[in-house]
Amino acid sequence: MIESLANQTALVTGAARGIGAAIAGHLAARGVAVVVADVDRSGETTADSLRSQGHRAAFIQTDVGDPGAVTAAVAFAESTFGGLDIVVSNAGLSARGTLENTTPELWDRIHATNLRGPFFLAQAAVPALTRRGGGNIVTITSLQSKISTPDLLAYGASKAGLVTLTRSLARLLAPKHIRVNAIHPGWVLSEGEVQIQAAAGLSPEDMKRRGTSFPLGRITLPEDIAQTVGFLVSERASQITGQILAVDGGIGLHR
Ligand SMILES: NC(=O)c1ccc[n+]([C@@H]2O[C@H](COP(=O)([O-])OP(=O)(O)OC[C@H]3O[C@@H](n4cnc5c(N)ncnc54)[C@H](O)[C@@H]3O)[C@@H](O)[C@H]2O)c1
Repeated sequence: MIESLANQTALVTGAARGIGAAIAGHLAARGVAVVVADVDRSGETTADSLRSQGHRAAFIQTDVGDPGAVTAAVAFAESTFGGLDIVVSNAGLSARGTLENTTPELWDRIHATNLRGPFFLAQAAVPALTRRGGGNIVTITSLQSKISTPDLLAYGASKAGLVTLTRSLARLLAPKHIRVNAIHPGWVLSEGEVQIQAAAGLSPEDMKRRGTSFPLGRITLPEDIAQTVGFLVSERASQITGQILAVDGGIGLHR
């Protein structure tokens, strides 16, 4: 039987769609009250849909690159649901940029979302998690943090920074009973990735077909990441902290 996570509250960034929406849906189905925090107002629809299924959910418009906004999102979680137990730093920007065409503005935007966001969200959330006697932070990093891709230079660097931040926070926060772990997704069939690949001429069916050549025979789905978040924040993972878990169907094995 899947362990219930009832009486807990989670704040999931970038939860309007894609991997974040799947994480929000999985946690909500396990009894967690979920704050959908997203820069895009369509997060309101995601929260509405969870509520219409009988779950507890609320939306707050949040740009994770703005420390004031993430502080407000943590306060919103506490005032709406009475506390905060789980933080998922999922919001990410995978904008393409080569050595030649990455502007300072693009570099800053990618790092503000992918690295500064999770740092200041952790800073804001730790007092709230501590008030509950502990909790969990999960970051969503990327295989790109350890491989070389010519048009993902700023993205890869930001995700590598997030890996180090995850491990540093894990050590620092262990005495407060806050576990901090990361998930490395491989290639995931999310709305954002479908849009990016459409621009390169690949349809979702093409992406799935490509997945059949991966070691485990299929592309990763948002739900695969969501299930792993559910495991990491559960009691079954109570001795796990500072780990970077690849959920990639084995594609990282031959890089
Ligand atoms: N899809 C993949 O193949 C893949 C692979 C590795 C890692 N990831 C990581 O997984 C995470 C989710 O990716 P996805 O594929 O679901 O993307 P997506 O584009 O489908 O969804 C991203 C969500 O984040 C939100 N967002 C973007 N910038 C934000 C900001 N500044 N503040 C708050 N919300 C913001 C967007 O509005 C959107 O709702 C990202 O961190 C991404 O880097 C994805």
